[in-house]
Amino acid sequence: MTPKLIAPSLLAADFGNLQRDIEMVNSSEADWFHIDIMDGVFVPNISYGMPVLEAINKHAKKTLDVHLMIVDPDRYIKDFARLGAHNLTVHFEACTHLHRTLQVIKSEGMKAGVAINPHTNIDLLKDIINDIDLVLIMSVNPGFGGQSFIENTHKKIRQLKELIIQNAAETLIEIDGGVSDQNAAELCKAGADILVAGSFVFKAENPLDTIQNLRKLANS
Ligand code: DX5
Ligand code: ZN
Repeated sequence: MTPKLIAPSLLAADFGNLQRDIEMVNSSEADWFHIDIMDGVFVPNISYGMPVLEAINKHAKKTLDVHLMIVDPDRYIKDFARLGAHNLTVHFEACTHLHRTLQVIKSEGMKAGVAINPHTNIDLLKDIINDIDLVLIMSVNPGFGGQSFIENTHKKIRQLKELIIQNAAETLIEIDGGVSDQNAAELCKAGADILVAGSFVFKAENPLDTIQNLRKLANS
């Protein structure tokens, strides 16, 4: 069986020691770097942008999984491709012409992801599921790390898994927000393929062990 993946979110890293934290992830059992870009408009917070992604790309040796929490993401697709993003995820709620946006992301050589907010129904993905490489289910309201996991997510994972199977799609399911050793195993059993974890990894006493344990739980 394909292994379930762990994607530490650099939002919770120590930005004063960003290279150190990137090297930690490089040497860990983590699979992807999760990179949260926030514009202060789509979400009520601003994280970091292009120059920081460029710096991350210089040191990171694993897949760069970029999560855009910005309005009108079409403006920057080419820039993110140039800066080394492997996966580019846009928000369903931020795209008027989602089908077109996904085609452009793919034409730039990246995997195309769609993120959905906690209030967005899985059924809205029915007509687009076969065009999506990855659906990111937000299990907190986007904008901040360290929030509590929204339990309704479990139901959404099962619904999405069913939709993927019904359509014979190859879409991966990624869960973002409030992931910890308390829910990792259950999320993956419900159908999640990738778990994003910010605070749980970077605020841990031993991030390397924490990643290893999370990956073990995800694949249990
Ligand atoms: C929130 C971001 C998440 C965040 C997760 O808007 O999309 O990726 O970093 O942080 P934790 O794991 O602390 O909930
Ligand atoms: Zn994220």
